[in-house]
Amino acid sequence: MARQPVEIELQIHSLSDQGLGGGEHNERPVWVRNALPGETVRARILKRRGGQRCADGQPLEQGSPDRVPSACAYFPRCGGCATQHLAPEAQLAHKAKQLADQLQLQGIEPSSWRSPVALLRLGYRRKARLGVRLVGETVLVGFRESFSNRVARIDSCLTLTPELSRLITPLKTTIAQMSEPHTVPQIELAQGDGQCAVIVRHLQPLSAGDVALWQSFAEHWRVEVLMQSKGYDTLKPIAATQQQMQLLHYQLPEYGLTLGFYPHYFTQVNAPMNRELVRTVMGYLGNLRGRVVADMFCGIGNFTLPLARAGALAIGIEASAEAVAMAAKNARANGVDSRCTFHAADLYGDTGGLMSQGTSQDNGGAPQSGIDAQLNHFGAAPEALILDPPRSGAGPNLPSWAAMSSVEQIVYVSCNPVTFASDAKRLHELGYRLAKVGVYDMFPGTAHVETVGNFVRQTIGG
Ligand SMILES: C[S@@+](CC[C@H](N)C(=O)[O-])C[C@H]1O[C@@H](n2cnc3c(N)ncnc32)[C@H](O)[C@@H]1O
Repeated sequence: MARQPVEIELQIHSLSDQGLGGGEHNERPVWVRNALPGETVRARILKRRGGQRCADGQPLEQGSPDRVPSACAYFPRCGGCATQHLAPEAQLAHKAKQLADQLQLQGIEPSSWRSPVALLRLGYRRKARLGVRLVGETVLVGFRESFSNRVARIDSCLTLTPELSRLITPLKTTIAQMSEPHTVPQIELAQGDGQCAVIVRHLQPLSAGDVALWQSFAEHWRVEVLMQSKGYDTLKPIAATQQQMQLLHYQLPEYGLTLGFYPHYFTQVNAPMNRELVRTVMGYLGNLRGRVVADMFCGIGNFTLPLARAGALAIGIEASAEAVAMAAKNARANGVDSRCTFHAADLYGDTGGLMSQGTSQDNGGAPQSGIDAQLNHFGAAPEALILDPPRSGAGPNLPSWAAMSSVEQIVYVSCNPVTFASDAKRLHELGYRLAKVGVYDMFPGTAHVETVGNFVRQTIGG
């Protein structure tokens, strides 16, 4: 017989960076989903993790003034979101506080703050990786449940765009009709401005019936279906008439740009917020005409192409050779290829650092390795850098980039306030002041914090 979860009552005094209410019971920390600071909650312990407890909570009496009814019926069990019970303004304040706390921890005081930026609250999410699980005869397709590896029972999702959300139920039906439904562990969804794509990971070869099933899914829902038997290099369109994957596209209308991408590439999930990010970065850089700017971790050119359009000489560097090729293709398609160049490099590895100190002109003609030649592609070293790294931050080569004597400004886009703050400290030690910083609600309702910071080189005595 399954053990009944233990029920306790406790006071919540904090909200974690995962959106969990924090309290104590029997002198042990307890993290409670659906609980807010100031509330007394009845909580069911769902999981023990080391000395800590993870629980599901219900407020007793009146809840926190920041509590709102969740718009989503699957919250808080579905782990796709973390803070649907928190008022939108309080979510923003919580994200801004996390950033402020991390900066304070590192001893960094920004010269000014931008108010948190929020746009679409629901229906914004254009990319998702969903788990698939067979429970008896029932197929589940969804995010993982919080505190568990189980797939949440959902029929739709309010954070996904309506065009992607409406596919969840038909995906479940279609997988259930396959000859071996348990051989599909995962589905990925992606959307451009309009078009949608579905990646179906399958562990065994498909039968003729399975192929016909997915072909009719693709036709009926007017989406591209790609079957993936192993790595992404095995992606194959299901449509009999199609040899090649189709490109998805998104636009950056302020810059007259259309960027193509394949569904498995990195793209920012929230299209209106991405436009705001690009606008912010470009605003910080100011007049770009004739200036050399390097876009580190450039992906498919989301910032590089606007730079080039605005008159800069833009250098994009990125680890993924596929993304670099796509960025170059996007530059050609938008007629800005004469003003930008792209290079594949592991920016965390030895060759991602500069071999010379200062500019390459200071290098005395010594043979170059590292990314010196790439950063000097236009015959002058960059005056400004954009950094948009993964969660782990800018990495070990940051000091060598920031030490280039030509660099006056660094605009840093971050998806992790912890690494942003520790990199801010490193930049401060290298002579850069955090002139302005703010959070951007890229994933409302979730714990994700997106930050843009503008660092400027301190003038002597400045
Ligand atoms: C947060 S994304 C930003 C992409 C792009 N700036 C955008 O806005 O779409 C981070 C990028 O860093 C790239 N990346 C990850 N590890 C890297 C590494 N070691 N060296 C260079 N690029 C890396 C990823 O491929 C991804 O494109």
